[in-house]
Amino acid sequence: MIGRSLFMAVLVGSVLAAGAAVAQDPAHGPGEEAVDAYAVADANAGATPFTGTAMFEAFHGRAGIDRMVDSMLDGAKADPRTAGIFVATDMVRLRRTLKEQFCYVLGGDCGYTGRSMVDAHDDLGLQPADMGALIEHLQNAMDAENIPFRTQNRFLARLAPMRRDIVTR
Ligand code: HEM
Repeated sequence: MIGRSLFMAVLVGSVLAAGAAVAQDPAHGPGEEAVDAYAVADANAGATPFTGTAMFEAFHGRAGIDRMVDSMLDGAKADPRTAGIFVATDMVRLRRTLKEQFCYVLGGDCGYTGRSMVDAHDDLGLQPADMGALIEHLQNAMDAENIPFRTQNRFLARLAPMRRDIVTR
C-alpha cells in the first residue's frame, strides 16, 4: 500500500513537473531566460507570409536574414535614441525570435515560436519615434545586404500593420 501511494505520488509529481515546464517555458532556446506562459503559434508573428520563395531568396535565405537581424539589432542597441529600451532585454531570445519571424514572413520554411506583437511590446510604452528609429536600422541592414529598394518596401509594407500592436503611446 505504501509502495503504491509512493508510486502514485512520484507519478503525479512528475506529470505536474512536466506540465509546468511546458506551460511556463514553451519555446526556450539555449542561453535564454524563461518568459511567462503563452501559446506558441505562427499567428503570433503578426503577418501573413509571402507566398512562394522569391522574397526569401531575395533576402538571401536564412543566412541573409540572420545577418540582417543581427545588424538591425546591433544598430538599435548602439543608437542613443533606442539603446535604453534594450538594456534589460534578453538579446539571445530577441535575436532568435526575430530571425524566426522574418524568415516566416518572408516565406522561408520557418516556424515562429515567439510571443504575439502585443504580448512582446505592451509593457515597453513604445512611441512613434522608437518605431521610426528601428525601421531606420532595418533599412540600413537591408542596404548592407544589397536588397533592392522595391523589395525592401514590400517587406516593410508587410510589417507596417504591426505598428498598432507595438506603438502604444
Ligand atoms: C515592426 C516592428 C517590430 C517587430 C516585427 C518586432 C518584433 C519583435 C519580436 C519577434 C520580439 C520577441 C518576442 C518574444 O520574445 O517572444 C520582440 C520583442 C521586443 N521588441 Fe520588438 N518588434 C518591432 C518593433 C520594436 C520597436 C520599435 C522596439 C523599440 C525600439 C522594440 C523593442 C523590443 C523589445 C525591447 C523586446 C523584448 C521584450 C521583452 O523581452 O520583454 N520592438 N519584438
